[in-house]
Amino acid sequence: MTGAVAVTDDSAVRIIRMNRPEKKNALTLAMYTDMTRALREADQSDAIRCVVFAGAPGAFCAGNDIADFLKAAEGGRDLRAFDFLKALALGQKPMVAAVAGVAIGIGTTMLLHCDHVVAGADATFSTPFLKLALIPEAASTLLAPMRMGYARAFSMLMMGRPLSAEEARAAGIVNTVVDTAEVDAVALKAAQEIAALPPGALAVARRLMRGHRDAVVQQIEAESMHFEDLLKSDEARAAFQAFLARKK
Ligand code: COA
Repeated sequence: MTGAVAVTDDSAVRIIRMNRPEKKNALTLAMYTDMTRALREADQSDAIRCVVFAGAPGAFCAGNDIADFLKAAEGGRDLRAFDFLKALALGQKPMVAAVAGVAIGIGTTMLLHCDHVVAGADATFSTPFLKLALIPEAASTLLAPMRMGYARAFSMLMMGRPLSAEEARAAGIVNTVVDTAEVDAVALKAAQEIAALPPGALAVARRLMRGHRDAVVQQIEAESMHFEDLLKSDEARAAFQAFLARKK
């Protein structure tokens, strides 16, 4: 583990906490590896019945680390983020998210794979991929229009317009909006409620609700291919450099 991801088990609930507050929980490649491992272990454990994704105060997750994007633009193929997305799409255990503060990029698109999302009243959801000359990932080009309708999905995914917690609830991304200070506790309670359901019946019902995952994984693969090409574009590199230089 990197220390930037803390994994703890509270009886049958595994809590995967992104813990890089000084960078607003921007995800590094090492953090993807830790989260993938934590999810795969949960899949294989009979003792773990539900997973919670949590963040730091003020930041659920500010998306992929933009310095890592720049490195990736200059380096070869790295599958760590892709592996995490597939682990999310194929995860066997119900996933709950506790979102306080910013949820940007993958911080929002990962929620489309979660089964229950609790948001603080201060939470904001945005996917500014196009502003970075990239495309949305995590099968969000498939799942977001299905979940929230094409018009709202276009506004969020393409135009990068943020959603407030209430707007995200109305769009079907968030289940409940609570006081920010209560987010973790409410999410944990929901996870415990899910974990207490009969596991065999829950697993079957959840598989039926989520449907065949082939289309979702194929969309992740298709998006990833384009994403990698676009990462190397002059426009994308310029956008990454502009973000990293903005305070200088
Ligand atoms: N990648 C790398 N570093 C990031 C980051 C990211 N995605 N998001 C935030 N950070 C870093 C900032 O560079 C800053 O680092 P520094 O203190 O060393 O300069 C630190 O986190 C705090 O961020 P800061 O911008 O000072 O805080 P803020 O409250 O003014 O704004 C955000 C917070 C999250 C709104 C803003 O940092 C932001 O827009 N981040 C980029 C989000 C993004 O585009 N993600 C990719 C989506 S595809």
